[in-house]
Amino acid sequence: MKESMNTPRAVWNNQFGFMMSAAGSAVGLGNIWKFPYITGMNGGGFFVLFYLLCIVCVALPVMIAEIYIGQKSRSNAVNAFCVLEKRPSSWKIAGMMGVLATILILSFYAVVGSWIFYFLQQSIFGFERFATREGVQHLFLEMTELAWVSFGYQLVFILATFGVVAAGVTAGIERLNKTLIPGLVCIIVLLLLYSSQLSGFSQACKFLFAFNMEAFTAGGMLEAVGHSFFTVSAGVGIMITYGSYLRSDAKIAPIAGTIVIVDTLVALASGVIIFTIVFSEQAAMSEGPVLIFKTLPLLFAQIPGGQFIAVMFFLLVTFTALTSSVSLVEVPVAYLSDKGMSRKAALSSLLCCITCLSFFCFLSVSAAEPLTLFGLTVFDLFDQLSSKVLLPISGFLFVLFFGYKLKSPSPFVELYPAVWVRAIMKVTTLVVAPSAIALVAVKLLLFS
Ligand code: PHE
Repeated sequence: MKESMNTPRAVWNNQFGFMMSAAGSAVGLGNIWKFPYITGMNGGGFFVLFYLLCIVCVALPVMIAEIYIGQKSRSNAVNAFCVLEKRPSSWKIAGMMGVLATILILSFYAVVGSWIFYFLQQSIFGFERFATREGVQHLFLEMTELAWVSFGYQLVFILATFGVVAAGVTAGIERLNKTLIPGLVCIIVLLLLYSSQLSGFSQACKFLFAFNMEAFTAGGMLEAVGHSFFTVSAGVGIMITYGSYLRSDAKIAPIAGTIVIVDTLVALASGVIIFTIVFSEQAAMSEGPVLIFKTLPLLFAQIPGGQFIAVMFFLLVTFTALTSSVSLVEVPVAYLSDKGMSRKAALSSLLCCITCLSFFCFLSVSAAEPLTLFGLTVFDLFDQLSSKVLLPISGFLFVLFFGYKLKSPSPFVELYPAVWVRAIMKVTTLVVAPSAIALVAVKLLLFS
């Protein structure tokens, strides 16, 4: 297949559209089910400060690097490297790893998406089942055991995601994010106001922001680096792809700064909301699916106005999952359509591929005999392969390519007119970010 030269490339309607779409990708389940937990476990205040440092010194440089590569090449995550080097480039392997990662992440994300839909529906029509531990336990089992029902929800999630991408970059992705992200911010503000009225609010703030030096360890530092990188969706080529639809005169640095601020504020607010609910009911903190599908439902049933809060919360989670999965689909779609496939054909073949792969993920968590490969469920294998292997390696390569390969014109001069900002960003991009990511990659590969 030849690179298609004649299809005009989509362009975001405006910078706000790009900002909302990139923020939609960045704000995901990681902000809600991971950040509060790791913050709590690592001593609150110091961890939050260190995390903010990682956002500025690791996540921001990688995000800027990716957007720049996309904006300059106006090409997909794989071909962008060849366009910028003006010849076939082996750096495109980094982009290929990113594309593979999006396919793996999408396959297990669809399973989580089905759980979210199921709990959203139950919070509206079956809220009384949240009242007892047995009820919630049963709901979770039912969701995984009622095979055809949960696979049906999974298909709905996949079709909704592909439906948005099929509508196009501006009419689908941009429009969805311009609607859902402000909606998400409203829900967060509402939940924050509500939690400020609960008894556990001040304890939650104290817990999250108090400086408990003893709990802050070297392991916690690496966790902060890894999470800062994951939370901005770096390393899969989403920002390269979204950046390729950005007008060439758009100023990348302030836009990227705004996106990471939105992502960080959502993470901090989620932390305050979730810890307030947990402390108000004197429950134990947990993370991941256990937090969202077991701990919180039980707590919603205890607090005043719990059903409304539960519906709002699951709506919030639905929004974050949809806006992230839409961005994941766009990466391989852009790659295939730049290769000459029509967008329709690219979407149809990906739809088949994701439906099949996500069916295996589904079987691996639902069937009585879980489907395993190399001692892991397919779900966990896809999760670990993408987050522990592909993401760090391709993110590392993206930032190296940007920092060391792009010379004339120098991206640093173009991006940072102020000399002191340029000096700081040179250090973070050329030294801090690559070494921090390399450390995390080694730790993830060897010690977990
Ligand atoms: N950024 C998302 C989150 O915080 C996760 C994600 C990573 C989504 C990579 C897409 C690609 O949850």
